[in-house]
Amino acid sequence: MKIAFSKPTLPAKGAVLVLASEGKSAPKLTTQGRSLDKSVSGALHRAMATSRFRGRKGQSLVVLVPGRGNISRIVLVGLGKVGEITDLISEQAGGAICVELGKCDNASAVVLVDAPPRCKLSASGLAAHIALGVRLRSYRFDKYRTKEKKEDKPKLVRLDVHVAEPGPARRAFARLNAVAGGVCLTRDLVSEPSNVLYPQTLAQAARKLSRLGVLVEVLDEKKMKSLGFGALLGVAQGSIRPPRLVVMRWNGGPLKGKGAQPVAFVGKGVTFDSGGISIKPSRGMEDMKWDMGGAGVVIGLMRSLAARKAKVNAIGVVGLVENMPSGSAQRPGDIVKSYSGQTIEVLNTDAEGRLVLADSLWYCQKRFKPQFMVNLATLTGAIIVSLGSHHAGLFSNNDELSGRLTDAGLAVGEKLWRMPLDAAYDKMIDSKAADVQNISSGGGAGSITAAQFLQRFVNNLPWAHLDIAGVTWSSKGSATAAPGGSGFGVRLLDRLVADHYESR
Ligand code: BES
Ligand code: MN
Ligand code: ZN
Repeated sequence: MKIAFSKPTLPAKGAVLVLASEGKSAPKLTTQGRSLDKSVSGALHRAMATSRFRGRKGQSLVVLVPGRGNISRIVLVGLGKVGEITDLISEQAGGAICVELGKCDNASAVVLVDAPPRCKLSASGLAAHIALGVRLRSYRFDKYRTKEKKEDKPKLVRLDVHVAEPGPARRAFARLNAVAGGVCLTRDLVSEPSNVLYPQTLAQAARKLSRLGVLVEVLDEKKMKSLGFGALLGVAQGSIRPPRLVVMRWNGGPLKGKGAQPVAFVGKGVTFDSGGISIKPSRGMEDMKWDMGGAGVVIGLMRSLAARKAKVNAIGVVGLVENMPSGSAQRPGDIVKSYSGQTIEVLNTDAEGRLVLADSLWYCQKRFKPQFMVNLATLTGAIIVSLGSHHAGLFSNNDELSGRLTDAGLAVGEKLWRMPLDAAYDKMIDSKAADVQNISSGGGAGSITAAQFLQRFVNNLPWAHLDIAGVTWSSKGSATAAPGGSGFGVRLLDRLVADHYESR
């Protein structure tokens, strides 16, 4: 879909979207909305007066205006109380606009944007974030639906945003749109089935980022063997698909001085998690195609940073394996030696993500000595029990990093909830046979003990682990994401970098 910005004119055709805020007694139209209302002899006011539309956020009202040129319909979209409008609310309004447009046949539409008096956002900011909402909500993974009827496919190909200062709006949107590109890449990757997306093909997808100036290196099985990645390789050994470790580097920051030390992101990339010999029940096992969600976010994030030429040095590391049962698969009780030198007793082959991350985290910190390390993983079903799908779990050894992550999440609508780490939980994964065991022997706290396991592979540096098992995929969708892969994490980490780690 093409999104263009231009100066306000009275629209003559297609669908027209008009913003309204919540007033004391009645909803309030913006200036452009009022002139449009005049041109349709007050049809908008009449429609609002006889409906439940109050201009609240999330509300919309379709008004058909027969006999008014080629305008097919006018859709009123609520923004809520003027003083409370934020970037996020504008994005949600954009999402609502996209949903409304999906219900009609128009190939083009116009959104009239001006900031109501006392609105904290400028009209260009409002316009850019509305456009972002449309862009994010319009994503669809339909490449395998060869028989979908044409009339069932979305028709909208062009959206014109009418705003007083199109220049600044266009520039603000270009930056947001770069990040949206990363979000959509992540959604593409998590949506691909595991017969198409496996370690080698996921590594190829990451390689494509070199077009944007990202340096991409791929470590194969032989290389990982020689380095001693016993934990990651143990997970991979049951599959005929060989594992990969991908290292991505975006060098947009200074060569020397304070900002030179890189920031690092590490992702769990289990392209299919059958559970291995500790096999999962068949119901819902298909969901385990998106068990590479953490890696998907890291790849999408690197794309975002490169596309908007972020002034930061960033590292992305993803450990890619397929977890399968077979004659060559790892057995419960096996003891492996991780890259860190610590030995691990594998009591459950379904607790594989932490094994993959153990070597990936160690490699990342040893080679790059980053300022901090954030890892993402669809790590535990237990985090879904704790937090459902409205927050991802945050575990960290550092209050400053935690606070910054939490704030970035609130700003972009990707909420985190901090969970504890504690020596008492750490004790629960002491092994009798090795240095550590990969699950605790009873006592609950499944997400925390998983995080404790990861922490044993983190040296003295600020580190955070985001358990995204509950937020990576949504069967319901949200205001800015259709049902399916959410891309949760890309915008959050992009925002973290933008707010704190870019040189000016
Ligand atoms: N990939 C799963 C976690 C998961 C479950 C993600 C459901 C998304 C939805 C992970 O590898 C796993 O299997 N974890 C086990 C750990 C257990 C064996 C200690 C779990 O959560 O059951
Ligand atoms: Mn598993
Ligand atoms: Zn898994």
